Amino acid sequence: MARSISDIQSFQPVARTLMGPGPSDIYPAVLQALSRPTVGHLDPLFIAMMDEVKQLLQYAFQTENPFTLAISAPGSAGMEACFVNLVEPGEKVIVCRNGVFGDRMRENVERCGATAVMVDDAWGAPVSPEKVKQALKDHPDASTLAFVHAETSTGACSDAQTLARLAREHGCLTIVDAVTSLGGVPLKVDEWQLDAVYSGSQKCLSCVPGLSPVTFSSRAVAKMQARTHKVQSWFLDQAWCLVIGAGKVNAAITIPRRSIACMPCMSLYCGFIKKGLKTHGNVIKTCINTSKRGWMNSGSRLWLSRLIGCRSLMQSLFPMVWTMRPCASIYSIPITSKLVLD
Ligand SMILES: Cc1ncc(COP(=O)(O)O)c(C=O)c1O
Repeated sequence: MARSISDIQSFQPVARTLMGPGPSDIYPAVLQALSRPTVGHLDPLFIAMMDEVKQLLQYAFQTENPFTLAISAPGSAGMEACFVNLVEPGEKVIVCRNGVFGDRMRENVERCGATAVMVDDAWGAPVSPEKVKQALKDHPDASTLAFVHAETSTGACSDAQTLARLAREHGCLTIVDAVTSLGGVPLKVDEWQLDAVYSGSQKCLSCVPGLSPVTFSSRAVAKMQARTHKVQSWFLDQAWCLVIGAGKVNAAITIPRRSIACMPCMSLYCGFIKKGLKTHGNVIKTCINTSKRGWMNSGSRLWLSRLIGCRSLMQSLFPMVWTMRPCASIYSIPITSKLVLD
């Protein structure tokens, strides 16, 4: 029964241990940063800080792309931003689907008025470079190859470097979902020549939810600049950033200052900058391995072998089942590395 609004108290969540990549536990110092005073999003102090955030994200993505920023919305908005800015109506996009998030890519392609050519692999298997190679050969008119680096719904990790190389050999751009890989496993945007990559602040970066780090290569920027159709989403149209410069404040929207401001704090305190990305990835790996051990000690099994399982994700035997409920009852901790489908 609905309560009267006067009975509603300030939200007091219980302290949980979040071992999976997203949402993950937040460093106490980062939580403190959230309570610092508000400054306007056009305040010079804030604008200077945005440049620092851009620099930190470039480090996380291992890129020098000038067009690297945090979109003011969760990972799904980063996904949509990449598709709506890079895919035009009538184009053909090769989409790799080996779990839930590959299918979301298909949805995005179709909503852009383009055709999605699906390359399907079994749930739990990584994307097959052989199948991708064949699809690129069969569809020489494809403009883009889209794939998920770490498919969270199953825990499978695909070979982003090889897939990107195949795309380049066929003149295609790449759109890469790195929501649960950025900060958790090696992701080398420049070395692997990835074109549009998006992630989520709440996953392996251990920041607060609600931001989507994205980076666009110069090839991706050239494609955006050559568009013949207006981007159908006003909010996610990156043309603004192309005009004012990524990392600069878009005066047209009110940026969630607190969330963005805790990013520099997060990266300093979790050792991300001081100790390096590799060490940060190892912390994530330790958390996941602890979860995996707990899971197996309870008599359950892991679904994927260590060879194809992403080390930033837990691959329980029930990829389609909400693991939070059984885990919460066994260990009193939620392990939220899987998706609800039941
Ligand atoms: C691989 C992948 N892509 C996209 C998303 C969507 O991100 P968000 O929930 O931040 O919108 C998720 C979320 O779990 C994900 O794991």
